[in-house]
Amino acid sequence: MLDIKITKTTSPKAKPTGKLGFGKIFTDHMFLMNYTRGKGWHDPRIEPFHDLTLSPACMVFHYGQEMFEGLKAYKAADGSNYLFRPDMNAKRTNNTNDRLCIPQIPVEDFVQAVKAIVSVDQDWIPTEPGTSLYIRPFIIATEPFLGVDVSETFLFMIILSPSGAYYESGLEPVGIWIEDEYVRAVRGGMGFAKTGGNYAASLAGQVKAHDDGYSQVLWLDGVERKYIEEVGAMNIFFKIDGKIVTPMLNGSILPGITRDSVLQICRDWGLPTEERRISVDDLLEAQANGKLEEVFGTGTAAVISPVGKLRYKDDVMVIGDGKIGEISQKLYDTVTGIQLGKIEDKFGWRVKVD
Ligand code: PLP
Ligand code: COI
Repeated sequence: MLDIKITKTTSPKAKPTGKLGFGKIFTDHMFLMNYTRGKGWHDPRIEPFHDLTLSPACMVFHYGQEMFEGLKAYKAADGSNYLFRPDMNAKRTNNTNDRLCIPQIPVEDFVQAVKAIVSVDQDWIPTEPGTSLYIRPFIIATEPFLGVDVSETFLFMIILSPSGAYYESGLEPVGIWIEDEYVRAVRGGMGFAKTGGNYAASLAGQVKAHDDGYSQVLWLDGVERKYIEEVGAMNIFFKIDGKIVTPMLNGSILPGITRDSVLQICRDWGLPTEERRISVDDLLEAQANGKLEEVFGTGTAAVISPVGKLRYKDDVMVIGDGKIGEISQKLYDTVTGIQLGKIEDKFGWRVKVD
């Protein structure tokens, strides 16, 4: 149990009005906790949101020893505040930390810290349809040292951002670019971890995709460049001939919490699901046979995002009729319904914040 010292701001900011966008506005407070080798995690505290003062020699700036997470807080119609499966983010934090040689944070301390900062800034949870409070926990290596080594000190922080849809188009289907030149991750690398380096590796492909009018990149496996992995900020699902299919977790893709939730919901509905290797050729063939029925991405920021178009080299696969597919819509309604406290939480995923 953390003993969190809370210092409240004396100059609260005005709450945003109008369209929120994603990740541009920050609340009044932030959570911080330091780590020092030999002492462990210490000084958990909530302070007014502020800039940091760091040595330019901090290891995070040079060798990228850092990690981050993403989850959301939701305000239900009765004013209750909820998190969605925060223990899963805590566990994934520790899997990432192990890969990046960052010390673990006990699951209950991580969840306590998230609850504490959300509770302090709960008036910032937006209530317009499609909005929520995006929560960004992250850890950076702070030792000032230019040798390549494991840092002896770290800083864990949590910042909060009232946000709307990740894609400007909202629930309109997005176009996705299947990247055939760059790769994002390989097995044995860091693909399963949530660390900045994976996203830095993705930018050049994303720029190409954007230049061509596509929203995001769908990555292929780093060795054969043949098998579907995931999208820049979400996992990917296909409805092929009535089956819900998604790439299996193989070490190079992020084990998404929304992915896991969607699989559990589909199984509960009695839909056939498959976690397996899927090649681009499988997709092209399914499309040619009229069996590629729906494509959607899953993620905390992206929620359920329908995909209307997939480009691979000279082929453009147009999926559906330009509108969100039936299962995608049902999943969106169910996932957000559980998150917002509108429907029964039969899986026990909602966690209340007081
Ligand atoms: N894949 C990548 C690369 C991501 O950045 C995200 C977002 O967190 C996801 C998948 C989806 O994960 P989750 O559902 O846990 O948010
Ligand atoms: C999330 O969905 O939480 C993510 O981390 C996606 C992010 C890269 C915007």
